[in-house]
Amino acid sequence: MSVIVSPSLLSADFLHLSKDIEMVNRSQADWFHLDIMDGVFVPNISYGLPVVSQIKKMATKPLDVHLMIVQPERYVEAFHKAGADILTVHYETCTHLHRTIQQIKAQGMKAGVSLNPHTPVSLLEDVIEDIDVVLLMSVNPGFGGQSFIEQTINKVDKLKKLIMESNSHTLIEIDGGVNFETGKRLVNAGADALVAGSFVFNSPDPEANIKGLKEL
Ligand code: DX5
Ligand code: ZN
Repeated sequence: MSVIVSPSLLSADFLHLSKDIEMVNRSQADWFHLDIMDGVFVPNISYGLPVVSQIKKMATKPLDVHLMIVQPERYVEAFHKAGADILTVHYETCTHLHRTIQQIKAQGMKAGVSLNPHTPVSLLEDVIEDIDVVLLMSVNPGFGGQSFIEQTINKVDKLKKLIMESNSHTLIEIDGGVNFETGKRLVNAGADALVAGSFVFNSPDPEANIKGLKEL
């Protein structure tokens, strides 16, 4: 099965967002990756619920929503109403991670958990069977266009082992600094899904880059 590609709209043209949504609809991409930042958990503010609702009206593919916000449990229902299909929270923001995962699933969404570059995958040992997607950050969250942190390859390897040992079907998704070169190595290491922001939207031919990632 080919790798899942989730273009991050953080690098899209916000003045002509519909044009970029149509491009992703037309392309071979599988999901839309939406980055929600609160200026507290990460040193940047992106966009919020009203924008997600508008994107939902036009997108023909699932919305993969990445919450980089403190107390994400307060917004699970709101993001479900706005149209999230996969809702990912950061391990570092959840005191009661197990409860938050159940809350996400109770709304009928797929539950994702994201790890910052410094957070070891072993911390997921006791919840891995409950998680649909683990989103490994391969940059420090907050901005597009940063360079890939090499240690991520080892983390994919460790996570793959953890998933196999637990006999679960959790997908491994990677976010940050993905291009053809890092993407290839991630797929070889066992990644199931790749997020790509600047590599897609800063390219003169975004659709070709999506297609190229699909073919890795
Ligand atoms: C960063 C976001 C990413 C970002 C990736 O905090 O989570 O989704 O858009 O951008 P690139 O692909 O440019 O590293
Ligand atoms: Zn993201």
